[in-house]
Amino acid sequence: MATLAEPKPLAARQAASAGRLSIMTIFGTRPEAVKMAPVVQRLRASPEFVPIVVTTGQHREMLDQVTRLFGITPDVDLDIMRPEQSLVDITTRALAGLHRVLDELRPEMVLVQGDAHTTFIGALAAYYHRIPVGHIEAGLRTYDRYQPFPEEMNRRMTSALAEVQFAPTARAKRNLVGEGIPEESIFVTGNTAIDALQAVQRLPDVPAVAGIPPLGGRRLLLATTHRRENWGEPLREIYLALRDLLDRYPDVLLVFSVHPNPAVRRVVHEILHEHPRAHLIEPPEYAAWVRLMQQAYLILTDSGGIQEEATALGRPALVLRRVTERPEGIEAGTVALVGTDRSNIVREAGRLLTDPAAYQAMAQAHNPFGDGRASERIVQALRFYFRRSDNRPEEFAG
Ligand code: UD1
Repeated sequence: MATLAEPKPLAARQAASAGRLSIMTIFGTRPEAVKMAPVVQRLRASPEFVPIVVTTGQHREMLDQVTRLFGITPDVDLDIMRPEQSLVDITTRALAGLHRVLDELRPEMVLVQGDAHTTFIGALAAYYHRIPVGHIEAGLRTYDRYQPFPEEMNRRMTSALAEVQFAPTARAKRNLVGEGIPEESIFVTGNTAIDALQAVQRLPDVPAVAGIPPLGGRRLLLATTHRRENWGEPLREIYLALRDLLDRYPDVLLVFSVHPNPAVRRVVHEILHEHPRAHLIEPPEYAAWVRLMQQAYLILTDSGGIQEEATALGRPALVLRRVTERPEGIEAGTVALVGTDRSNIVREAGRLLTDPAAYQAMAQAHNPFGDGRASERIVQALRFYFRRSDNRPEEFAG
């Protein structure tokens, strides 16, 4: 399958780097990789900067899919993932590994993205080395310290450590300003998720996902779950609700992308495995996943990033959480919060399956999260920060 750009070995880039500033991008999970990839590509193409790509390897298989797709060969791969890793495992292994890497490579700046553990630990390790940190997708908040867990605190701690904040939206900037972050350090860029989405939509040859029968006029429900605060009973409720929907609506086909986390895997297989219209698949390649979202009648998810993608694609999404750090999708009307209560999920999804007006009202594409130019603005902002340009980038207006 086509990839989006050719990688270059680190040695070649170092050679080409005379007079250029080295910017280390650190990521570890799939969503970080998807959203960092457009920035790495822009840095590569810029005359002022040289990207050094470091991955903690927090997500082994899912990360490798993305770096392959975007043609990014990590310069350093710490390969920290272990089966059933705890938060402490990720913290200690990533911190020790990144400490060594930063000691050796001494970049001019470290960029981290989002709210995963790698994000926070990458920022912390850079801070210990007094290397400035730029945080991409800064300022998203629920102001509930346990939801999402541990991502809300990962974000807040990263904001405190970062010197440059790339806020995706005006609301995210307001959150940061409200917390006392200096306004001049905040750049409203849009979300690089939309840059990545647009890039894969342009790919010509995306193979279909294996294991899914032809829809043949049936409606596709696409589902994912992985949030730590949903482990246990909430996940059971969600899967039972999905089974109820299949039983109630015979023209519905469920495709469930099963996160490799064993805490998710065991329960989803137990409850949905036997249903003839439930198709449990391995997480598809990102480009194929985008194609599937485009075909979906309805998406049910507890993910953060899918709220952005569904809104941009105009695919109605029910969010299986009580709070979201991305209210822009709800305001746009494409996304609704339904929590994890079985009967509530069945009622809300049922309404969208039976009421065409309610469905049409949600099935509209909006772009509150970005316009596909976030990575361009981030690189412009870096030029401004390093005094290679006098101009701040114009802000993403939403
Ligand atoms: C992590 C992030 C979360 C992000 C999510 C996206 C943290 C604390 N959590 O959650 O913010 O939304 O990724 O997916 O950073 N596994 C594999 N192969 C993989 C990936 C995961 O086998 O490619 C399994 C491993 O058994 C691992 C488990 O999944 O122990 C959990 O992975 P982990 O990174 O700890 O947390 P996630 O739930 O994936």
